[in-house]
Amino acid sequence: MSIKYLTSVLLVLFVVNQCIIAHENNHHIDNEVVEKLQKISSLSAKISCELCEVGAVLFDGFLERNASVEEVIKTSTDICSAMKIQQPDVCAGIMFAYAPIVYQVLIETDLTPTVMCHKLRFCTSTESKMQHYNELNQVASMAALLQTKPNYKDTKLQKPKMDTPYTGIGYILQLTDIHYDPYYLEGSDPLCGKPLCCRNGTGSAGFYGDYSCDIPLHTVKAIFEQILEIGKTMPIRFVVHTGDNPPHDVWMQDEARQISSTDVLASLISTYFPDTIVLPSVGNHESWPSDEYILPKKQWLLDTLHSCWTPFLDDAELESVKKAGYYTTLLQTGLRVISLNTFDADILNFYNLLKHSNMDIKNNQTDWFINVLEQAEANNEKVIVIGHIPCTLKSDPNDHWCEVYQAIVERFSQVITAQFYGHTHYDQLVVFSDTATHTKPTGMNYVAPSMTTYMHHEPSFRLYEFDFDTYEVTNYYQYHANLSQANEPGGNLTFTVAYSAKELFDMPDLSPQSWWNVAQEFKTNATLFDNYYKHLANSPFKSTCDDACRKKWTCEVFGVTSQLFDQCLGV
Ligand SMILES: *[C@@H]1O[C@H](CO)[C@@H](O)[C@H](O)[C@H]1NC(C)=O
Ligand SMILES: *[C@@H]1O[C@H](CO)[C@@H](O)[C@H](O)[C@H]1NC(C)=O
Ligand SMILES: *[C@@H]1O[C@H](CO)[C@@H](O)[C@H](O)[C@H]1NC(C)=O
Ligand SMILES: *[C@@H]1O[C@H](CO)[C@@H](O)[C@H](O)[C@H]1NC(C)=O
Ligand SMILES: *[C@@H]1O[C@H](CO)[C@@H](O)[C@H](O)[C@H]1NC(C)=O
Ligand SMILES: *[C@@H]1O[C@H](CO)[C@@H](O)[C@H](O)[C@H]1NC(C)=O
Repeated sequence: MSIKYLTSVLLVLFVVNQCIIAHENNHHIDNEVVEKLQKISSLSAKISCELCEVGAVLFDGFLERNASVEEVIKTSTDICSAMKIQQPDVCAGIMFAYAPIVYQVLIETDLTPTVMCHKLRFCTSTESKMQHYNELNQVASMAALLQTKPNYKDTKLQKPKMDTPYTGIGYILQLTDIHYDPYYLEGSDPLCGKPLCCRNGTGSAGFYGDYSCDIPLHTVKAIFEQILEIGKTMPIRFVVHTGDNPPHDVWMQDEARQISSTDVLASLISTYFPDTIVLPSVGNHESWPSDEYILPKKQWLLDTLHSCWTPFLDDAELESVKKAGYYTTLLQTGLRVISLNTFDADILNFYNLLKHSNMDIKNNQTDWFINVLEQAEANNEKVIVIGHIPCTLKSDPNDHWCEVYQAIVERFSQVITAQFYGHTHYDQLVVFSDTATHTKPTGMNYVAPSMTTYMHHEPSFRLYEFDFDTYEVTNYYQYHANLSQANEPGGNLTFTVAYSAKELFDMPDLSPQSWWNVAQEFKTNATLFDNYYKHLANSPFKSTCDDACRKKWTCEVFGVTSQLFDQCLGV
């Protein structure tokens, strides 16, 4: 789900209200309202603070009238269609899925419109920003948060996955954001006017995929075939699969479809990598509606993960997944992986607006995470953290979660050796730093680009070169293929190395300090920055990046919360 849908939801909240008021006034929508609507819709997809606040304020009135959920869905659908915000079937599907959640959250929350609109990043006024930051700073009583935790489970008792530990250099494969589309149709229309196409009509959708669509399953298989070939010379020690399995057809999903996407891909991965350790994480698209997660409502999702991940995890890990969507694995003596459930980081998870859905209460992930790291520290283990939604503004992360995450990364900077994430479909770097001064690097978060081509990306995967003696990432190889070339008659989907990090950025090693130095240099060295920018979107559609653009993307590297991002930009 993109912020565009959220805008339409809020727009609709506003419109619904006006229409109901008008309806009550003898089925007559007065000119003033029509004018207002036209003005707002002319803002197109631009996110407006004013609109959000107006929508939220008016929604209060809507709540006062105690409208039924059915009425909210129906009226919002009608208006969405009439205003041509999306095509009628898309409007109907989105409102059916999201309007009841927005409604319920607004009923249960005591947020003022201003605060809510800031939390959802619609508002950027200095005043509401300060209010938001003050709130965060209160929450972020990190000393208390980081206090020693009671043991959740004694991880020392955990059996390593590898009896004989790996030594020397090996490779870690990261697959992320596969988003395969079971309804992809070669020769269909890629520009159908819906959020996802290539399923119907006649057009140029190629055999292997289209830059405007998600990819067919045979493309995923073709990619796995090549990975197996590459693995013959670069031995893959384990696979990290950082989530997002279903296609982007958020308006026509249901639980059964989401379950099937996760099931199909888990089976495919276990078929192609039967003898390799596979470590999955849950993506925001695995849920229905996409992005929305709260317990116990979404227990079906955890049950799904529990059953689909059976080939990959042992009983204790699966039990943890069933309970909370996170788990930890001891790969071999001294090397652990922690897989997080990042719905807490999802700004589009409206349930995060509920006070009682605060992550410490929801499934104790923070306490558990800290406790596992404490034990790892005591047992002399290094930890790789994997997850779906990273703390970088491109992913619109929840600031509350990212403040906490940042403090944890700092506290355990000697324990956490790497962080592998996805979600943005971009090839991004994120460098964490100390919370007091933001001058000392504390950790490195790699955000790998998507396997799906949606939107305008080449298909890709990544191999990290990993030293199994020191437990450090020593380099990585980013692979991509040329989809246009593959779709030509007789063409092949052929993967090549887009770049290797050490060479591209001319680095002595891949320590957080070295990444920090590189990213600092982005600020002054446009040539070096362009090396980053060239691969950022992993796209055949090239764009240039002026000084403002360079500043923005450089600040993304350091901006793990919106406050830090703003400070970096100097706004
Ligand atoms: C709102 O409507 C529901 C049924 O539609 C009813 O159960 C509830 O009591 C009503 N609440 C108020 C405050 O009127
Ligand atoms: C194709 O279009 C038809 C008619 O609009 C619709 O009923 C059908 O669901 C569409 N198929 C897919 C896979 O979207
Ligand atoms: C979370 O912590 C509370 C209080 O310590 C405990 O009662 C509860 O069982 C924990 N929940 C999970 C999912 O571990
Ligand atoms: C990808 O392939 C197309 C079609 O063969 C070609 O025109 C294009 O230059 C290629 N792109 C790159 C980056 O090689
Ligand atoms: C595609 O692969 C086949 C089999 O490996 C090969 O014979 C053919 O020449 C390749 N085509 C192109 C355009 O590279
Ligand atoms: C800028 O970066 C490029 C690429 O790494 C490097 O060759 C060049 O020497 C750098 N320029 C300066 C002034 O440091």
